[in-house]
Amino acid sequence: MNKKAGRLLSIISILSIQLVSICGCGDSGTSILQDYGLLNNDAETQAGTFDTSFNDIADSESLSEDGIYINTGDAITVGFSQIGAESDWRLACTNSIVSAFTAENGYNLIYDDAQQKQENQFKAIREFIDQDVDYIILDPIVETGWDGALLEAKEAGIPVIIVDRRVSVEDDSLYTAWIGADFYLEGARACAWLDAYLNKKGIDKEIGIIDIQGTLGASAQIGRSNALKDAVEAHENWNLLAAESGDFVKAKGREVMESMIKEYGYKIDVVYCENDNEAYGAIEALKDAGYKIGNDINNGEVMIISFDSTREGLELTLDGTIAVDTECNPLYGPILTQTIACLHNNAYLQKESYVLESQFSADRTVYSTRIDGNTYKVTIISQDIIDERVY
Ligand code: AHR
Repeated sequence: MNKKAGRLLSIISILSIQLVSICGCGDSGTSILQDYGLLNNDAETQAGTFDTSFNDIADSESLSEDGIYINTGDAITVGFSQIGAESDWRLACTNSIVSAFTAENGYNLIYDDAQQKQENQFKAIREFIDQDVDYIILDPIVETGWDGALLEAKEAGIPVIIVDRRVSVEDDSLYTAWIGADFYLEGARACAWLDAYLNKKGIDKEIGIIDIQGTLGASAQIGRSNALKDAVEAHENWNLLAAESGDFVKAKGREVMESMIKEYGYKIDVVYCENDNEAYGAIEALKDAGYKIGNDINNGEVMIISFDSTREGLELTLDGTIAVDTECNPLYGPILTQTIACLHNNAYLQKESYVLESQFSADRTVYSTRIDGNTYKVTIISQDIIDERVY
C-alpha cells in the first residue's frame, strides 16, 4: 500500500475508533501519560484528558523509562517547526523533543528553528510537505495566520500536531491534535496567589502593577495577560500601571523594566513577568536602580511574579527574589511520541490535552488557592525540588 493510501486508511480508522470511544470505551482508569505525570487529568485542576486506548498500544510496544514511545517498525519521519530559542524554557522544550525523537527510538526528526518569525514557520511546513514527512509538529509563535499553511498540510494528507501554544483557525480539522498549557489558568493561579497573599497579610493599599508581557499574539501572552487584566478588574485597589512586551527574553525584560522605572518609579509594587527570562532582566534593572526586591510591599519592596519555573527561576524563588513562580511544562518529547504512537496505530486520540503544571513559592503565607471552585496547591520550594529539575 502506498503512503497516501495508508494515510487515508489511517484517517478512516481513527474516525471509526473515535466513534467507538465516544460510545463509551475510552473513559476508564488513568492513562499512561498521567502515570508518567505528563498530562493532567485531575478533576481538581485542568480539564484535560487523554484516552486510555494508548495503554493498549504501550502493552504491545516498548516504552522507555522516561515514557518515550519506542517505535520498533519502519522509522517514522517527523518535521518539527520550533519557534526559536528565546528562553530557557524554549531550550528545554527543544531538548525534550529532539532527545525523544531519535533514530535509536525509531524516528527520523527534521528540526527547523524559525528564529521568531512566522514566515519561517510557513516555509518549514512547506518544506516538510515537499519532503513527504509522516507527521508535522508545530509550535506556533502566534495564534493567528495559520489557515493557509495548515490547509496545505491537510491537502497533502499529513497530520499536524500543535504543541505548547495554540492556533486560532476557522476550521479546526486543519490540525489533528493540540497538546499544551492552559495559559489563562497559569495567570489566574498567579493572581489568585497575589490576592490570597495580600488578604492574609492584611495589605489593602493601592497596588501598582507592571505587566512585562510575552510575545504579543502568542497564546502564552494572551492567556497570562488576560488573566491579569481580569484580576485587576476584580480588585478595586489593583492598578495596572502599564503593560508592554518583553518578547520572553531577558534583555527586553530589562529594557521594559528600565523604562517603567523612569515612568512610574515608586508607584510600582508588583512586576508580573510573563516568563522567567523577562524576570531575570527586570530584577537586574530594579537592583541597578536601587530598588529592594521582596514581598514586603507595604515597606517599599517590589514583588516579582514569574512563570515557567525553570531551574534558575526556582533558585530565585528559593531565595525569595521571585515571590511566586507558576510552572509552564516544557517536557513535550515523551507526550509527542505517545501522541504519534496513537496516530500511527490508529488508536483514539483526544483532540486537546493539557500538560500538568505546578506553582512554587518560598513564602509560607499561601498554601493553596481557589479558582472557579477548584483548589490549586502552592508547592513550597526546596533545594531537593530544584536538584530534580532537568531544565
Ligand atoms: O509558550 C511558552 C512560553 O514561551 C514560555 O513561558 C516562555 O518562556 C517561552 O518562550
